[in-house]
Amino acid sequence: MSLDTAGYIVAGAAAEIADGAYAVVEAGEHSVLVANLDGEFFAVENRCSHVSSPLDGGRVRRGRIACPLHGAVYDLRTGASLAGTLAPRGLRTFATRVKDGMVWVAIQPSFLGAV
Ligand code: FES
Repeated sequence: MSLDTAGYIVAGAAAEIADGAYAVVEAGEHSVLVANLDGEFFAVENRCSHVSSPLDGGRVRRGRIACPLHGAVYDLRTGASLAGTLAPRGLRTFATRVKDGMVWVAIQPSFLGAV
């Protein structure tokens, strides 16, 4: 794992994460899902707030991901839960940046998923 001085690690080549797709990386203590939405990259924790099942394997549609286990839906840009009482807490989000064709993700969350 390559960690820069700002606390970001490489998630992968931007060209390898297609629009509407995502990659899963280990960022520090967190499993993080890094999604390409219309050429912008967003990162959320790879753990559903319902019963902590991984979100990878979930379907992405219109900037949202559906948990593959019970279907809770989250906004990948904000981490907000759209699942009501099924999963009332949102997801932690992580800052991303693209440099020299590589996607970097912060190892510390920028939002703690309290909504
Ligand atoms: S574990 Fe995700 S909706 Fe139940």
